[in-house]
Amino acid sequence: MNAPAEAAFQRCIDPACGATYALSEVRTVCGQCGELLDVAYDWNRQTVPQKLSAFERKYATRRYPLHYSGVWRFKELLNIAPDDKVLTIGEGQTQLRPEPEVARYVGLHAKEVFLQYEGLNPSGSFKDNGMSAAFTHARTVGAHRAACASTGNTSSSLAAYAAASAALGPDQRMEAVVFVGSGRIALGKLSQGLDYGAKTVQIMGRFDDAMKRVQEVTKALGIYLVNSVNPFRLEGQKTIMYRVLEALEWDVPDWIVVPGGNLGNSSAFGKAFQELKALGLIPRLPRLAVVVARGADTLQRLYNEQGLRWNGGKYDKDLVKKFYAQMDKEKREANTIASAIEINRPVNLPKCLRALEWMNGVVLSCSDQEILDAKAIVGRGGLGCEPASAAGVAGLKRLVADGVISKGERVVCIVTGHHLKASDVTVGYHSLHGEDFKHEFARYDGVTTNKLANYPVQVKNDLNEILRVLGEGAHGSWDA
Ligand code: F0G
Repeated sequence: MNAPAEAAFQRCIDPACGATYALSEVRTVCGQCGELLDVAYDWNRQTVPQKLSAFERKYATRRYPLHYSGVWRFKELLNIAPDDKVLTIGEGQTQLRPEPEVARYVGLHAKEVFLQYEGLNPSGSFKDNGMSAAFTHARTVGAHRAACASTGNTSSSLAAYAAASAALGPDQRMEAVVFVGSGRIALGKLSQGLDYGAKTVQIMGRFDDAMKRVQEVTKALGIYLVNSVNPFRLEGQKTIMYRVLEALEWDVPDWIVVPGGNLGNSSAFGKAFQELKALGLIPRLPRLAVVVARGADTLQRLYNEQGLRWNGGKYDKDLVKKFYAQMDKEKREANTIASAIEINRPVNLPKCLRALEWMNGVVLSCSDQEILDAKAIVGRGGLGCEPASAAGVAGLKRLVADGVISKGERVVCIVTGHHLKASDVTVGYHSLHGEDFKHEFARYDGVTTNKLANYPVQVKNDLNEILRVLGEGAHGSWDA
């Protein structure tokens, strides 16, 4: 329990508690006070390059899997295990792209808005960054079964890594168990878990129910939990920020805008920048905007309406408890077309509050209509995204309109999941007309129009007809 004399260890996030645990202990909360845990480093005992640009040299040796990985290239900043325990499937080969169309849409200069496309990961979402780190830790403690609750992406990622572990030999194989809510998961995501061979438990309930159950089940059966309450997950997700910095030639942007669900990413980003600053590797932290869906807006209500703040670790836990009790009393359930972030009890709430404090952050919620419109704009950039991932762009548009973000500021939106994850939403958006669209999408928050739809053109199987249609330059209503 006392501070282990190690170069890396686990530590309670509550500064007043500060209990520490060895890396080899498998736990998700502090045994003393029940708070979340961080992975912490004694930087004097780590070999960290003096300049971030030193990481670029690893490109030259990318045949070595740890240097190819966009996570483990930065291993000196997340040194949680020996190299031979690392499980990598080539995660983190992602891209930062300027998106002039998105910039125009949100009202900023073309060269100032960047999208960080994490959908390019092997399982199609940012989760692979964290899953690689969680699996690596799981291997160091000899786990053979890993589980998660998921809105679909964590489970896809877990299933992919579990499948990869089988290739290491029967004694290295990790079995995957995933808990998903019933009917609340995009089919593209469910199909991945099934295809990769995960044992899939669909419980009658929503993500918040599945999350509670998986914590009980993993405790009862000694299964390794890979949800983002696992502090090792977040170490992997820090590297998304290292890659953003790398793409910007190590210049710190003004804003990071990220969708919020279980609040793991926002928490990890805060930690990434805080550590780099403490190490003297960056001069300042960017600001953080966390965007939630209006139908799953616990963070927004607590932060903006109730004034909840990290407050150096002394955040008002009673306020949170009362909020959840009231939510239960009203039987308020999360509901959004951005199913990946349909979460009312974000497990990383305290860490996110801490990141917001470190990064002078803001929180806002967007309607499903705003999210759908933003998604259509992101799609035009040619990489596209699933609805939850577009929440960042929707939020950015509002932050510009409200004068929080202005022209001249450099903004990076994190696009968290691949376009094909929820292709049913995309197809519905671009194919249904008028009342049919309204009818199909009416159950979502504030959705009335698909004004940016690019309708397929129906044409008879007749050459002249096809030539006539193309001669007219007919395509969907781009500029509606
Ligand atoms: N975007 C996508 C595409 C996601 O899948 C998630 C979370 C988030 C954003 C939110 O990220 O939790 O770090 O705030 N999906 C989880 C899952 C909950 O089970 O796949 P967060």
